[in-house]
Amino acid sequence: MAADGAGVSSGTPAPGFPTAGRSVDGIVAEIENGRGGDANWRGGRTFSLVYNPGDEDLEALHRAVAVEYLHENYLNPFAFPSLLKMEKEVVAMAADLLGLPDAAGKLTSGGTESIFLAVQVARERARDANGIAEPQLVTATTAHPAFAKAAHYLDVEHVLVPVGADGRLAPDAAANALTDRTALLVGSAPCYPYGVIDPIPELAALAAGRDVLCHVDACLGGWLLPFWERLGEPVPPWDLSVPGVTSLSADIHKYGWSFKGVSLLLHRDQEQLRRQHFLYDGWPGGLYGSATTAGTRPGAPIAAAWATINHLGAEGYLRLAGQVRDATVRFRAGIEAIDGLHITGDPVMGVMEVASEVHDLAAVNDVMGDRGWHLDRQQGGLHLMLSPYHLEVADEFLRDLAAAVADHGPSAGVAATYGDAGVAG
Ligand SMILES: Cc1ncc(COP(=O)(O)O)c(C=O)c1O
Repeated sequence: MAADGAGVSSGTPAPGFPTAGRSVDGIVAEIENGRGGDANWRGGRTFSLVYNPGDEDLEALHRAVAVEYLHENYLNPFAFPSLLKMEKEVVAMAADLLGLPDAAGKLTSGGTESIFLAVQVARERARDANGIAEPQLVTATTAHPAFAKAAHYLDVEHVLVPVGADGRLAPDAAANALTDRTALLVGSAPCYPYGVIDPIPELAALAAGRDVLCHVDACLGGWLLPFWERLGEPVPPWDLSVPGVTSLSADIHKYGWSFKGVSLLLHRDQEQLRRQHFLYDGWPGGLYGSATTAGTRPGAPIAAAWATINHLGAEGYLRLAGQVRDATVRFRAGIEAIDGLHITGDPVMGVMEVASEVHDLAAVNDVMGDRGWHLDRQQGGLHLMLSPYHLEVADEFLRDLAAAVADHGPSAGVAATYGDAGVAG
């Protein structure tokens, strides 16, 4: 895996615009041949980016759905009522799963868009209903950077609260950060860096007491935690059944096992959802109405979400959650058995940080990279996000990790990054 995006784009002269077209076979062959440097997620070598259920039937279903809805455009839901029906059904099924059968919601393109829209709704409400000219967004420092990005794009002031020693947002610290300009308080279920769940009931009660909206970012946990709980694992309250939680984001393209391009944003009621809609009647093309950010929208991710949920059902989700749980038990025990390594905090599901006070984890990660493992480096350690497929590679991974800890050179000094970090060109 070429970890350095700059290395991928530099060195090759940029092609000019092609004069003549080329054959399908030739292009497909070139694409296939060009993928040698891509991460080997099918082999369980990546720990984020791809959530791999390793389920051949599900993959066949996804291919069929993608082909069926290759060209449809969900810009106008009424032109494609089959997609509208599927979206409504996914929202209803998810509302049932996530603690508030009457919840209103929409599908979006991903966690970032769900978060943007939650922030935008809170901003509108703060301005219109509460007369707040310059609304604020309060999150823990562990909240996903999509909140910082939303605050930046939407011109909302972002108030960051440091987390406690357990990696969670302490209610007292959150209370101190609330002001009469706060529009939205956020809790994560769980947060990406440490996999811990913020104290949602306390945060939601705090928000409700101040007439502030409270968003639960369950982009990671939304489709796994309900089944984690059914497996008998301890899960603190986190969903829309908690009084005071006013919206929730849950990504179907993560532990919902669908392919990329679909998340869900649920609101406590229809009135709140209405604030998500943008209407514009000053255009000769007619009244423009839209509930999400994009204009043209692919139909396939919506159909895939519907198809995935109906194919797996609760039984399938429970089976996959069981595999993630078993992988989590193996990885945690194996990592904690390696001298000098520990897991940060007490993560609830299969998302965690490997930390150490004695080993140079950047150097350890270099060795793991040489062995083909694509672990994400973060400020305090190495990030793991487990999928069912990782069960099959647990022993190999743990052997390689122990060897890397025992024998590594100095670190190549690659910084902790997430996403593009400006180097992909
Ligand atoms: C907790 C959390 N929220 C939001 C997001 C953003 O989701 P997306 O990458 O689909 O925009 C992520 C992505 O990993 C996440 O872990």
